[in-house]
Amino acid sequence: MKPIRAVITGTGRCVPEGVLTNADLQRLVSTTDAWIVERTGIHTRHIASSDETTSGLAAEAGRRAMAAANVSATDIGLLIVATVTPDERMPATATRVAHSLGLTCGAFDLGAACAGFVYALEVGRASLLAGTARHVLVIGAELLSRVVDYTDRDTCVLFGDGAGAVVLSAVETDTETGLSIGRFGTNGALAHLLHLEEAPESGGRPKVRMQGREVFRQAVVHLSEIIRQVVAEAGFEPESLDWVVPHQANKRLLEAVAKRADVPMSKLVINLDRCGNTSAASIPMALDEALRAGRIEPGQRVLFVALGAGLTWGASTYQA
Ligand SMILES: CC(C)(COP(=O)(O)OP(=O)(O)OC[C@H]1O[C@@H](n2cnc3c(N)ncnc32)[C@H](O)[C@@H]1OP(=O)(O)O)[C@@H](O)C(=O)NCCC(=O)NCCS
Repeated sequence: MKPIRAVITGTGRCVPEGVLTNADLQRLVSTTDAWIVERTGIHTRHIASSDETTSGLAAEAGRRAMAAANVSATDIGLLIVATVTPDERMPATATRVAHSLGLTCGAFDLGAACAGFVYALEVGRASLLAGTARHVLVIGAELLSRVVDYTDRDTCVLFGDGAGAVVLSAVETDTETGLSIGRFGTNGALAHLLHLEEAPESGGRPKVRMQGREVFRQAVVHLSEIIRQVVAEAGFEPESLDWVVPHQANKRLLEAVAKRADVPMSKLVINLDRCGNTSAASIPMALDEALRAGRIEPGQRVLFVALGAGLTWGASTYQA
């Protein structure tokens, strides 16, 4: 019998129609298009309307991924929704997504902030290898606009809304296709650098608070180190990586990471200019875009890498 590998057999994404431009933000806070573009690389982000929900975007992304993988509801043995902006604290957003997709398999939310999708991929891979499921639907979905403080120029320019999904399938093969090395870390001593303030002094709903400069510094160190680590453990040189699909935090930050990890910027899949930082949704959204555009080809080596609140971080290697 050939070994089982966890292979991405379909992807999908869904973003709200609403778009928030840098010019719009100039009307909300003291900022300029030039500052935002120079410091972050972001031009526009998608923003949900009041009747859109995290579960709604997640379900649509999931539906598209299932169609691409050509699997039906009864084929899916596990659903994981990575999110920090659930519809409600209880029940898990994944249960609503499951209902919308006609799934009755196990379904739960996973909270690892912007690193949530890479963590969820690893849980999905483990479930396939353990024989718990033949197909796992892994979704990253966020409505960050619901927790962003649009009076805080340090954070409001960065975040957007959206969802991305992949179907991970158990495939028996002698090849190296699919997910291989996954490595993860946390530093809870730095939880205060990026967190949701549940009862802001200014009143109203919970809001994101961030010490941007320090998050930037930590992110550059951990992201570049973990790229080097998984590449070394996978047994190949950084040069033989074809693509890195990173969490879409900030272009300047990714440039610093790429330099330290010895990966040319041309190998990074980037869509943050149009989507901003969508936390757990950003990697599957960028991946879906690159696959549908035919940029990532069969046989190519891909690396997923992310860091977020916690701090949490992780990376995994994948052969398309
Ligand atoms: C937030 C971030 C873009 C700020 O860029 P920066 O170059 O570090 O800027 P600094 O924080 O040093 O601030 C420089 C100045 O710009 C100002 N500034 C901050 N936001 C601004 C904005 N939107 N428009 C104009 N000026 C702004 C600051 O107030 C500061 O002014 P001061 O010097 O008078 O105090 C950057 O720190 C960053 O991207 N950090 C990582 C954030 C991230 O990715 N978080 C999510 C991780 S998952």
